[in-house]
Amino acid sequence: MNVSVVVLAAGKGTRMKSALPKVLHEVLGKSILAHSLDTLSFIENQYVVVGHESDMVIDSLPSSTKHILQKDQLGTGHAVSSVVSSEIFVENKSEFTLVVPGDVPAIDAKDIELLIGEVKTKSSPVGFLTSVVENPHGYGRVVKNNEEIRIVEEKDCNDDERKINEINSGIYCFNTDFLIENIDSLDTKNAQGEFYLTDLIGIANNQKQDIVIVQVDDDSIKGINSMSQLNEVEDIMQKKLIEGFMEQGVYFQDPTSTYIDSEVTISSGTKILANTHLTGKTSIDADCVIGPNAQINDSSIGKNSTVVNSVIDQSTIQENGNIGPFAHIRPGSELGEGVKVGSFAETKKSKIGKGSKVPHLAYVGDAELGENVNFSAGSITVNYDGKEKHKTEIKDGAFIGSDVMLVAPVTIGEESMIGAGSVITKDVPSKALGIERNNQKNVEGYVDRKKKK
Ligand code: UD1
Ligand code: MG
Repeated sequence: MNVSVVVLAAGKGTRMKSALPKVLHEVLGKSILAHSLDTLSFIENQYVVVGHESDMVIDSLPSSTKHILQKDQLGTGHAVSSVVSSEIFVENKSEFTLVVPGDVPAIDAKDIELLIGEVKTKSSPVGFLTSVVENPHGYGRVVKNNEEIRIVEEKDCNDDERKINEINSGIYCFNTDFLIENIDSLDTKNAQGEFYLTDLIGIANNQKQDIVIVQVDDDSIKGINSMSQLNEVEDIMQKKLIEGFMEQGVYFQDPTSTYIDSEVTISSGTKILANTHLTGKTSIDADCVIGPNAQINDSSIGKNSTVVNSVIDQSTIQENGNIGPFAHIRPGSELGEGVKVGSFAETKKSKIGKGSKVPHLAYVGDAELGENVNFSAGSITVNYDGKEKHKTEIKDGAFIGSDVMLVAPVTIGEESMIGAGSVITKDVPSKALGIERNNQKNVEGYVDRKKKK
């Protein structure tokens, strides 16, 4: 396709009242800017205009995205002018140039394709997306009087113009030649003293050229200029995402208490119960029950697993996993098929083989457990000597009794047993009983003698 896209991301975002550049604030776990760039990834030739905290914004960009520095932020028209006058833009000139504000993350690719199509078909110099809304406050208004079409910014509106409820999305498709020829005719004669890109619409209209206006749903063109708008847009995008999962056969008990990041995948037949947070690159396979009160980040959960009242981070759970209630699965945990990690148990950087169980009150860290290991209540791997971490290996079928300290480095052999209350500091061979505790002594008649004293 002979189209380039310019994303405007040089502004500070003063109204956010935040040190972080506006476009780097996250919506559903991904920056506002990354949402637009991902949605527009079907257009190969991408330019991002950077300015305020440019290093931070550049660092966030994919390597294929070109950036252009707008040293002083003199307005959206000035931002586009910085691109159009750059060598790289001229050398890679495409027939059409899409301009998109970096603060509109819910952009819909279908709207963009429609806009480009219309501008092409009608050989128009420019087209833009608009929406008719109940509350147009803060947006540029689309003035349509007889033959006249132009955009007027909120701060420049007269009383009648302020009542117009068709708003400018800030998303335009330009014929590149028109853009190059006219971008320098913008001026700063307006309330904000800025070069407004919006004035190009009036300029095209004055040239008696056909302007394309495509009206779309306002949910997909909402701009983020304040924390309140960030919350509003995130809410809209969250609802859309959850609707999409529902259409694929995922059940949600209470979408209002459920938070799901945009990169998360969930397969059909899975039930997401109330107050569940799925973040980062988490994937949930089919037929799972997740929640209530589950928090899963950057992890994958195999099919037919349950996760109740638990926290899982950067870990893998194979199918038929049974996690919680009240388990903490910390980074680097790889739990095999059918593994159970139950109440008040914590795992970290450990492999736990198929069918093994850590049912309650346990800590498994820097360990490798084979298949069908039973790790009983109150037992832990003593992995840290105050300076370094050491590894514990527990072979297939071993039975670790209750309240056992396995002082690492240590290896517990296949099908061996460890007696309750033992502090194990030496390797235990296969099929042996490892026990470390004093013989029990019963003192007969002790209680009665004590009472008499
Ligand atoms: C802009 C439009 C308005 C439209 C609204 C839609 C103008 C003059 N106004 O207003 O008609 O309804 O978007 O959301 O275009 N930026 C730069 N360099 C600059 C100034 C801004 O890169 O010098 C970037 C910002 O980082 C931002 C985008 O351009 O991502 C839009 O700027 P913003 O200040 O948010 O414009 P709005 O007031 O929202
Ligand atoms: Mg804006």
